[in-house]
Amino acid sequence: MKNVDTRIRIFDTTLRDGEQSPGASMNVEEKLIVARQLAKLGVDVIEAGFAFSSPGDFEAVRRIAHEVEGPVMCSLARCKHEDIDAAWGALKGSSKPRIHTFISTSDIHLLHQFKLSREEALRRAVEMVERARGYLDDVEFSAMDASRTEPEYLYEMIEAVINAGASTINIPDTVGYALPETFGALIKGIKENVHNIGKAIISVHCHNDLGLAVANSLSAAINGARQIECTINGIGERAGNCSLEEIVMIFKTRKDLLGLDTGITTEQLYPASRLVSSITGIMVQPNKAIVGDNAFAHESGIHQDGLLKDKSTYEIIRPESIGLSRSTLVLGKHSGRHAFKARLADLGYDIAGENLDKAFERFKALADKKKEVFDEDIEAIVQDEVLRLDLPERYKLLRLYVQGGTDAQPNAEVTVEVDGKAITAKGAGDGPVDAAYNTIAGIVKTRSRLLKYSVNAITGGTDAQGEVSVRLEEDGNIVLGQGSHTDIIVASAKAYINALNRLEYKKKDKKEMLVL
Ligand code: KIV
Ligand code: ZN
Repeated sequence: MKNVDTRIRIFDTTLRDGEQSPGASMNVEEKLIVARQLAKLGVDVIEAGFAFSSPGDFEAVRRIAHEVEGPVMCSLARCKHEDIDAAWGALKGSSKPRIHTFISTSDIHLLHQFKLSREEALRRAVEMVERARGYLDDVEFSAMDASRTEPEYLYEMIEAVINAGASTINIPDTVGYALPETFGALIKGIKENVHNIGKAIISVHCHNDLGLAVANSLSAAINGARQIECTINGIGERAGNCSLEEIVMIFKTRKDLLGLDTGITTEQLYPASRLVSSITGIMVQPNKAIVGDNAFAHESGIHQDGLLKDKSTYEIIRPESIGLSRSTLVLGKHSGRHAFKARLADLGYDIAGENLDKAFERFKALADKKKEVFDEDIEAIVQDEVLRLDLPERYKLLRLYVQGGTDAQPNAEVTVEVDGKAITAKGAGDGPVDAAYNTIAGIVKTRSRLLKYSVNAITGGTDAQGEVSVRLEEDGNIVLGQGSHTDIIVASAKAYINALNRLEYKKKDKKEMLVL
């Protein structure tokens, strides 16, 4: 009997396409933490970045590929020799390297954007796959905008790059234009018309512009794709990518019908979702499938009644199967360092040494102020005390004093360290946060614009920590800053300073434009 391949490879691109979400840029330390969680989750491939695009990306790919064990480690590369060489430069010496090279194949892209003939695109693709094969065995090729490419040309391209040595062929729905039926038919067409397709795995990479990324990926799998490219929480360029947790739970929950498996440890899905949301500052919508706050909350009386009688009445997924069983109350003022470290590890943060000391010290101070310390508090502490350690801090908040209220004109006095020198200034504003921000902006002389300011109580109660997120823009660079504190004005100032430091980092590590 013919051996049927029922294993879907999960290719995670949270650190590459996911990082292309506006404001989601992560520093190297943050990427390493996410990569370790992805390895725990059991993804087959981690796309760690686009090595040629910036020194920061190169370093992230290099460190992840060398320091994280388990999955295949991959760098994106355009069909350009400098990209292929940079990808190899970052990956060489690691245990399971892959180069993922891509070129557009649709006439819309070739004619209007790249001014490239079909023949020239095919020649470059073959040449660059061969160049990558000169370095390593595992080469993936993507036909960008495949879903809007004339099928006959797509078949020709795929056949040629497989002959050149590509062993994974990725079919992106780059602009999220496909429908499940047409996308499934495209995959079927490739299987039927590309003579050497048996030598490669078909992969898909679907964007979510019409909200169909998961449905299109599923349809592709039903029609023979065996690798799915996806991201945690579905983050990514524009409306994002196929959501990893959704596609994985579809295969698990409907194994009866689909007969397909992944190698994912689903109990790590919820911690992974929390980790990525906390690091990127991109909130998960409450009604999001699988990992949203309401995904397992039953409101109606009829549903609650059914659940009390038998869980199967209204629950198709057990919350524990995605790692949601634990109690939300974790630690308090009597908890020791060991318990704190264990809780951090459960949340996906493997932190030791000096970083652990700092985080534990801050935890103790918080536990003294608050009776109960929740997971969200711990995540905020890690954000504040550990993750930003890797961010070069040009600016540091040293002191903040604000005055406000019903009768006083809000004003602030702030001391900020700028390049090692403490500068103090006074300023006023419409409210205490505005006063603090105006004063800080004056000290650091920023040209940035505040696009968004939001404050959240991390947990319930008036003693809760406030978590502030701000989005800043300068010359097209968008960054997100976060800060937390039991005093929301201090949290606001910390978030602003964090964003200003990220802006400095981003300006230095400017990514190359994707131009073929
Ligand atoms: O959406 C896309 O086409 C991509 C490719 C680079 C795979 O991200
Ligand atoms: Zn993409």
